Amino acid sequence: MRVVTIFHTGAELETEKAEWSPSVETGLPEIDRQHRQLFELAASFRGEGDQIRVMKTLAQLADYANTHLRDEEAMLREIGYAGLAEHQRQHAQFRAMLRQLLDDARKLSLDDIASRIKDLINGWFYRHILTVDIEYVAQVKAYRESTAPRH
Ligand SMILES: [Fe+2]
Ligand SMILES: [Fe+2]
Repeated sequence: MRVVTIFHTGAELETEKAEWSPSVETGLPEIDRQHRQLFELAASFRGEGDQIRVMKTLAQLADYANTHLRDEEAMLREIGYAGLAEHQRQHAQFRAMLRQLLDDARKLSLDDIASRIKDLINGWFYRHILTVDIEYVAQVKAYRESTAPRH
């Protein structure tokens, strides 16, 4: 019975989706700006409009996501973050899912594209911020305080 309960909880977490809210703020302004921008780009998808416009928005979202992942990894490298390799593995998974969606998009209906974007941003990315990004926050803040110019 116990196993069933654990599995059930896990399955619930996998399907959970949420909009951006202050609860995903890290307190690192440039990171929060990029996170929020990704939710906004995802929200601008309604599965309507013509295929060309949707493909353009999708490419824009993928570009912006890749910029964020790259900036975040550069920040973690700069502070000598011990969890960098694992964090990069998580990002690699996200990049692969994005690439897969870009590959599939031409064969998908606009509704299906919108729903895949929701899974990625409001599902995976949302959980990533709360469970994985959140782990580096204290260390980045400590690093910045220790290297801040003193008056
Ligand atoms: Fe991350
Ligand atoms: Fe992030």
